[in-house]
Amino acid sequence: MDAVFCKPSMANKTDPKEIRLENFFPKTVLVVGGGGREHAIVDALSRSPQVGKIYCAPGNAGIGLLAENVPLKDTDVEGLKAFAEEHQVDLTVVGPEAALAVGIVDAFREAGLRIFGHTKAATAIESSKEFAKVLMEKYGVPTAAYRSFDNYEEALAYVSSRPFPAVLKYDGLAAGKGVVIAQDLAEATKALADMLQDHTFGQGRVVVEDFLTGPEFSFLCFVDGSRVYPMPLSQDHKRAFDGDKGPNTGGMGAYTGLPFITEEDRQFAYQEIMCKTAAAMVAEGKPLSGVLYGGLMKTPQGIKVIEFNARFGDPETEVVLPLLESDIYTLFDSVATGVQAPDPIWRRNVTLGVVLASKGYPGSYQKGFAITGYDQVDGTVFHMGTKFRDGQLETAGGRVMMVVSEGPTIAEAREKVYAEIRKIQCDNLFYRNDIAHCAFE
Ligand code: AMP
Ligand code: GLY
Repeated sequence: MDAVFCKPSMANKTDPKEIRLENFFPKTVLVVGGGGREHAIVDALSRSPQVGKIYCAPGNAGIGLLAENVPLKDTDVEGLKAFAEEHQVDLTVVGPEAALAVGIVDAFREAGLRIFGHTKAATAIESSKEFAKVLMEKYGVPTAAYRSFDNYEEALAYVSSRPFPAVLKYDGLAAGKGVVIAQDLAEATKALADMLQDHTFGQGRVVVEDFLTGPEFSFLCFVDGSRVYPMPLSQDHKRAFDGDKGPNTGGMGAYTGLPFITEEDRQFAYQEIMCKTAAAMVAEGKPLSGVLYGGLMKTPQGIKVIEFNARFGDPETEVVLPLLESDIYTLFDSVATGVQAPDPIWRRNVTLGVVLASKGYPGSYQKGFAITGYDQVDGTVFHMGTKFRDGQLETAGGRVMMVVSEGPTIAEAREKVYAEIRKIQCDNLFYRNDIAHCAFE
């Protein structure tokens, strides 16, 4: 055994108190999900010296190059649990909110399986807008003032009495369609009728909140109870076309190194928003044990919360995790088991990533177009919606892939990413040419 303990690479990476025999066996990890976000998680795990085998359910074509894809849905809790038991998975890492919302973490813990992600109760911070608003109001976390309604007439009377635009949020998971910024009474009437009369998304209430202005950004943190490990800040680009025009999408690109956020802003957001919220969840008996994603806005009145998510963001994860120098397995495992992790170390560079999407996305689009040249890219290519058919990579989703470059400045990362993207050939893809435009205005 002495020979093993003396291995210098291991000895350097391990706290002496942590030297246990089990730490020297390669770990088996199961990642739940199959988008660009999960590709970035699998990519980070594949850099861990502790990790041996990685499974991903359901995974995608790019993930399949680093991990073994498992044909199970992300919400198939029983199937995933049986798989983890059968394959002696040491740690499961959950990407999508849908899996958290159906209670995958609770089910795994009950079965004695180690898992990174929030309990169903803690996921309410994302799945219920009203829960999040009540929590923020109670603990003094800065956010837009609001009222909530379950009655259509009352909601309409309130909205009619206030200035437009009106911000209307369905109180439940609504596949990204539950927020309407109504410009006038006609739009508000239709949205409220959809949500409270026709129950398009379900039986939930509606939160009506003040309209805020300012640049938005994403603050992702690993959270274990009241321990909050911050990741670099990033900004998503939600609209389909250049100049922030066109319909809302799942995200067309992202970057780190935000020029409009000062260190003072970051400290404020960390202490007054992320740490305060983590402590509030502990006080409410719903401790967090995964990623807390603050969707924040720098308003003229200071930084405020637009929304919380209970998971890694997509496409933010694809630009944030490549900067992680520390071993992500240690972080995931520490949060999953409730022990203090060493402070994560991040490279000082910035990253910039551009999403290549199928023409027509976020509306209807065709699939099955051949993609070539992606293997010539000098940088990272995260797959979002791709598949291999007879060895040929082809499009298989709305957002297809994301190319990420790293550099000392945003300008350099941006120049590099667009040069690399031109190496990719496909007849049915489009992308935005202005990711990180904020940094150049
Ligand atoms: P959410 O799902 O809560 O993040 O809302 C989706 C998008 O709607 C946000 O990214 C913002 O661009 C916008 N939004 C949400 N709430 C507000 C608000 N109170 N004021 C202005 N814009 C908002
Ligand atoms: N980037 C938006 C999200 O992950 O919800």
